[in-house]
Amino acid sequence: MNVIGIIASPHTEGNTAWVVNRILEGAEERGAETRAFYSGELEIQPCQGCLCCHTGDTDRGCVIDDDMQELYHAIGHADAIVLGSPVYMGQMSAQAKIILDRLFAQISPRFSPHYREKTVRQKLVLVFTQGNPDPGMFRVYFEYTKHMFQLLEFDVGEVVVVAGMRDRPAKERKDLVPVMREIGSSLVPE
Ligand SMILES: Cc1cc2nc3c(=O)[nH]c(=O)nc-3n(C[C@H](O)[C@H](O)[C@H](O)COP(=O)(O)O)c2cc1C
Repeated sequence: MNVIGIIASPHTEGNTAWVVNRILEGAEERGAETRAFYSGELEIQPCQGCLCCHTGDTDRGCVIDDDMQELYHAIGHADAIVLGSPVYMGQMSAQAKIILDRLFAQISPRFSPHYREKTVRQKLVLVFTQGNPDPGMFRVYFEYTKHMFQLLEFDVGEVVVVAGMRDRPAKERKDLVPVMREIGSSLVPE
């Protein structure tokens, strides 16, 4: 069982990283191998809309030669993915949006044999951290985002929303540790 975390925040030790890493710990406790990828450490360009992933006569997938290639490979070989983003202006971070756009290459007819080895839908846990204390404030946007990832054929469960980071950063929320670890362990079959 291989679970990867993608932390689409500029802060490698911020709220989003803290939450995603607690979820990965829960998966590890059940024997999963885990790895975290940090946007802040990756060079990933925005989609250029060249449509090479959908056209042309070679099986190249996305042709942009950057760190997204490593992420495509990791996603393709993962059993479950935990994607975390801070809420920026009521939406996902720009870092997360770039990754989502680059996953467009995944719905290429050629994507499946090229990158994605799994035959079952991969589980994807979407995590948002936000300053505002009301976890329901961006619910409509979170549901919409969940739908986008479902269109990419991920098996997306409940969106994890960690609110109130303005007043209390995640690392001070010890109450969250068992909750997040439980989410992680639930990704690993008994
Ligand atoms: C540019 C920017 C925009 C933000 N917009 C919102 C927002 O619209 N709503 C909200 O509740 N929090 C907002 N926040 C707060 C972050 O979502 C929150 O602090 C988050 O937990 C930061 O995660 P990080 O530590 O992983 O970077 C914003 C923060 C920044 C830097």
